[in-house]
Amino acid sequence: MYVTGLQLKNYRNLGEEELKPCRNINVIYGNNAQGKTNIIEALWLFCGGHSFKGSKENEFIKFGEKFARIKTQFFAQDREQEAEIVFGSNKKEVIINGVKKSGSSSLIGKYTAVVFSPEDLTLVKRGPGARRRFIDSAICREKIQNAVVISRYNQTLNQRNALLKDIFRHPELRKTLGIWDDTLSYLGAQIIHRRLNYIEELSKFAREYHLGISEEKEQLELKYNSTCSAEPGDSLSEITEKLSRRLSESVNDDCKNGYTGAGPHRDDFDIIINSRKARIFASQGQQRSAVLSLKLAEAQVLSELTGENPVILLDDVLSELDKKRQDFLLNKIKDYQVFITCCDFEEEGLLKEGKKFLIKEGRIT
Ligand SMILES: Nc1ncnc2c1ncn2[C@@H]1O[C@H](COP(=O)(O)OP(=O)(O)OP(=O)(O)O)[C@@H](O)[C@H]1O
Ligand SMILES: [Mg+2]
Repeated sequence: MYVTGLQLKNYRNLGEEELKPCRNINVIYGNNAQGKTNIIEALWLFCGGHSFKGSKENEFIKFGEKFARIKTQFFAQDREQEAEIVFGSNKKEVIINGVKKSGSSSLIGKYTAVVFSPEDLTLVKRGPGARRRFIDSAICREKIQNAVVISRYNQTLNQRNALLKDIFRHPELRKTLGIWDDTLSYLGAQIIHRRLNYIEELSKFAREYHLGISEEKEQLELKYNSTCSAEPGDSLSEITEKLSRRLSESVNDDCKNGYTGAGPHRDDFDIIINSRKARIFASQGQQRSAVLSLKLAEAQVLSELTGENPVILLDDVLSELDKKRQDFLLNKIKDYQVFITCCDFEEEGLLKEGKKFLIKEGRIT
């Protein structure tokens, strides 16, 4: 899919503005605090979710105004479509192809995009929480049913953890643990199974992109780290068995600690460059490139799944990347529409084919 038009009114620091992007690369450039990220955020909101900045909806409305409107024309599912979202002080209106909808979830699946924002660097730099959220949101996008499994798993986990705390004071309760363990292994194995499949597929594409970004110098690998030793290729029943065994083996530790030490909520995946963990050994530029490869791979998986190429939104990716890596992002990503923001873009010749938009004080020129 690709965006053919974007109109904004009172959205953040933008007044009444319009963007007519091209089908390939669109560079949005300008000084700090001019409105570049705001445009990327508006393009992202049509996916039907929340802002990648974690903002509340009333924060989208320009200071001193009563409402904000964002509207887009896009080509997807073989036809021209239109979506509009109006943010009022306490309510939101969504209109798709002229029909009023009850909420933004009706946008899901119609308009797809993948976003990279500087906060995504936490995927490499920080602890496992961000990586688990990344992979879980990806598998939920693959299949809405996965969100139900994850939420039931979390509920069961909370109940088991509460029981573990009770067992500390009432040891006789220990025999009731088995009921939770069966449900937990059954649900947990489904999550692990889907995550393993997803990581395998993601890894394949991410490796290709990373070879491209690094001019064939860096091998990127993703490796799922399971607390119950589940491995790629394991069947669902094998994983259920492994998780169930692991839960019963660690029952003494769990009772002592008052929480469940194994399961998908403790799993992680390693991002490895040339056989070394990127979190520990990669340079700033390598870390940024690795996250980018991951995001581009996410787009590729999504496009295989839906038959539609998502729009790629890249906020502030060019800094810290050398000219060759910048050249890859600007000129080598084919078949996708890309929006990319940066501060300086005076250098002639860097962008071979595409459109440039200068953003100045909330105006698009
Ligand atoms: N609701 C709002 N009303 C008016 N201005 C807002 C609102 N929300 C944010 N802004 C302002 O919009 C301006 C532009 O923000 P934005 O994040 O888009 O900048 P940017 O061009 O991406 O800058 P940088 O290069 O520093 O990332 C900021 O000064 C911000 O304070
Ligand atoms: Mg910005």
